Amino acid sequence: MRRILIMNGPNLNLLGKRETEIYGVHDFKSYLEQLRERYPDVRLDFFQSNMEGALIDKLHEAGFGKVDGIILNAGAYTHTSVAILDAIKAINCPVVEVHISNVFAREEFRHKSMISPACKGVVTGFGLDSYRVALEGLLG
Ligand code: DQA
Repeated sequence: MRRILIMNGPNLNLLGKRETEIYGVHDFKSYLEQLRERYPDVRLDFFQSNMEGALIDKLHEAGFGKVDGIILNAGAYTHTSVAILDAIKAINCPVVEVHISNVFAREEFRHKSMISPACKGVVTGFGLDSYRVALEGLLG
């Protein structure tokens, strides 16, 4: 069974409550349940943290053979974190960067991603469905 880790960064624990006009009204837990039902042959692990170091620790823990791929929504750290970029470069499993919103249709500071160069691909703007598109990309 293939194993994929979904990681959410800061403020994404508030999905369904946070800026619902941008991020929608659905919480991530119920979306993840739907995804698990749709992909019964894939083991989907999940991790969320508001802390940069915790995200880096998880990338290190998962990224050496424990999972076959990582779907990462690094939230605002996407635009700032050299440390997360380096962590993605350090590990040896593919990481797909995802965003719920279309970051290119938003403020200019969101147009720059620190982490994209180290990622296998980027999915942005499909709402929560961005995670499924990323999963399809990883499963090939
Ligand atoms: C986000 C976009 C980021 O710019 C923002 O800081 C987030 C969420 C998205 O999923 O659209 O927290 O990554």
